[in-house]
Amino acid sequence: MTTISHLEADAESEKFLSQFTNMHYGGQKTSELYSDWSDEYEKNFLNMTSGYEHPERIADIAASVLPDKTCRILDVCAGTGLGGAALKKRGFDNIDALDGSAGMLEKARQKGIYICIVQEVIGTGPLTKVEKGAYDAIVTSGSFVPGHLGPGQLRVLAGTLKPNGLFCMAMREAYLETDYLRDLQPEMERMQQEGIWKIERCDRMDNYHNGLSGRVFIYRRL
Ligand SMILES: C[S@@+](CC[C@H](N)C(=O)[O-])C[C@H]1O[C@@H](n2cnc3c(N)ncnc32)[C@H](O)[C@@H]1O
Repeated sequence: MTTISHLEADAESEKFLSQFTNMHYGGQKTSELYSDWSDEYEKNFLNMTSGYEHPERIADIAASVLPDKTCRILDVCAGTGLGGAALKKRGFDNIDALDGSAGMLEKARQKGIYICIVQEVIGTGPLTKVEKGAYDAIVTSGSFVPGHLGPGQLRVLAGTLKPNGLFCMAMREAYLETDYLRDLQPEMERMQQEGIWKIERCDRMDNYHNGLSGRVFIYRRL
C-alpha cells in the first residue's frame, strides 16, 4: 500500500466524506461511491492524524457485552472489514459482513475474516439476502452517517436479530443534529415503545473521530 502523509490523508478523507453531507439519496449511490474509492479507503482513513479508531472502539464495547465469542455477529456496513478484524482480534469467530458496495466487500473478502459476505443495499424494505432473526448481535460503526444509514433502516436491522440479540452501534454525536439523522433517536424510542427492543446503554464517547465526540447505542431485541 502506498504511504501518504497524515495531512494528505486528513484532506482526502474529509473530501470524500463531505460529499455525503447534503446527500439525500443514500443507499445504492453511496455504495457505488465507496466502490470507486475502495482502493483509497484504508490508505486514507488509517493514515489520518487522529487515526481511525471507530472499529476498535465498537469492538471493545461489543466484547464487554457479548460474553460468548462464538455468537453470530452481523457487521453492518462492514466496508473493507476493519470492524470484523477488530472483533476477530478480540476472539470472535462467527462474523458475517453486510454492505452495499462490491468494491469494499472485495477488500473485506481478502482479509479472510468473515464466514458469509453479503452484498445488499440496506433500504427500508426487507433484506432479501440476510436471514431474519438469525443474529445474536449487530456490531456497526461508520454506518449511521448522512447519506448512509438512517432511521428508516433501524427496523430492517432489528429484524435480523434473534430475541435477546444486541444492536451495538457507535456514531458521531454531531450527526444526530443533521436533517438526515434527526429522527434517529425518536425512532429508536418509538421502537422501544412498540416492544421491538429495549435500551441497554446510551453513552457519550470522547474523541470518537478527529477529536469529536461520539455516541454508543445498545438495544436488546425483545
Ligand atoms: C464509512 S464506511 C464504514 C466501513 C466500516 N464499518 C469501517 O468503519 O471502516 C461506510 C460503509 O457503509 C456502506 N453503506 C452505506 N450506505 C449503505 C446502505 N444503505 N446499505 C449498505 N451499505 C451501505 C458503504 O458501502 C461503506 O462501505
